[in-house]
Amino acid sequence: MSKKIFSGVQPTGNLHLGNYLGAIKNFVKLSNDNTNDCIFCVVDLHAITAKQNPKELKDNILETIATFVASGIDPKKSIIFNQSRVPAHSEAAWILSCIARMGWLNRMTQFKEKAGKDKEKASIGLFSYPVLMAADILLYDATHVPVGDDQKQHLELCRDIAQKFNNEFEVEDFLKIPEPLIQKEFSRIMSLKDGSKKMSKSELSDLSRINLTDTKDQIINKIKKAKTDTLPMPSTIEELKERHEVKNLIGIYSNLIETSLEKTIVSFSGKNFSDFKDKLSQVLVEKIEPISNEIKKLKRDKEYLSQILVEGSQKANEIASKKIKKIHEIVGF
Ligand code: AMP
Ligand code: TRP
Repeated sequence: MSKKIFSGVQPTGNLHLGNYLGAIKNFVKLSNDNTNDCIFCVVDLHAITAKQNPKELKDNILETIATFVASGIDPKKSIIFNQSRVPAHSEAAWILSCIARMGWLNRMTQFKEKAGKDKEKASIGLFSYPVLMAADILLYDATHVPVGDDQKQHLELCRDIAQKFNNEFEVEDFLKIPEPLIQKEFSRIMSLKDGSKKMSKSELSDLSRINLTDTKDQIINKIKKAKTDTLPMPSTIEELKERHEVKNLIGIYSNLIETSLEKTIVSFSGKNFSDFKDKLSQVLVEKIEPISNEIKKLKRDKEYLSQILVEGSQKANEIASKKIKKIHEIVGF
């Protein structure tokens, strides 16, 4: 049976290596398999759960599309669109927010992290964010959702919401229960400055991440400055237990060249750390520089990028409007 793939990325700027290795690289693989139907959404409604500068948001939407295309997603084969152009997302999110329970959302760790100490001041949108995400997925009957490790809990919530909707309205199998597709290894890329923190768009220091728009020199410089420790290169996996930064760098390298952590450890055991960093920079530049150049080129062609969005949202609208119509009937509108 063909897989229906759906995933989303927020247009909040600074797309980085974590986004690429945790999610986008997987999108490209899945979209190259002609038996899959793929939909990739720029989730601009999610982006405004934190304050955005409207002009920058517009720009970031186009940059996210450029990143998808530059990474190898073909807009002729996959549907690429932005969420706000398809009204069914907001509508379904409201209906599903009457199904989801406060208790379920109260358990979401991402909300706790993002809201920080002063939960009372967080927007309601930030709290109900995972319900909108469930709406995104369920409107398209997605069977598989490729995401980074940090989205696992949101996907479980999506499954719970779908199940409860089907049970409550006695419509077995109407909302399809999606499977997460999370890479088993190195699915959480950490900051280059602190191995206990996720690599993130919002981290103040640009040295903490490799941006997908970085130049060759920036990449080399960031790897040179990446935090490590004073011990030699490890010769066993056990040695990595307490060495978060080193483990992250070895993980990034292994992910990029698609090998196991063990094999990377064996090939660098006994070598100097600087040899490893040189090799890591080299594979990063090989992978990221062409993407970075292509993003910059595509960004100059705003018309082409806008056209992708127009065509993609038409196709998405056709699917989503049918599903929301059925939801209306089921609910009794
Ligand atoms: P976001 O930028 O939050 O919209 O995330 C887009 C995709 O990238 C999601 O599937 C995330 O799980 C994934 N992602 C974001 N940060 C990381 C990271 N540091 N490591 C791995 N995956 C990530
Ligand atoms: N919440 C996801 C993130 O921050 C983005 C997202 C929104 C998404 N809707 C989605 C991912 C639907 C997969 C499917 O990374």
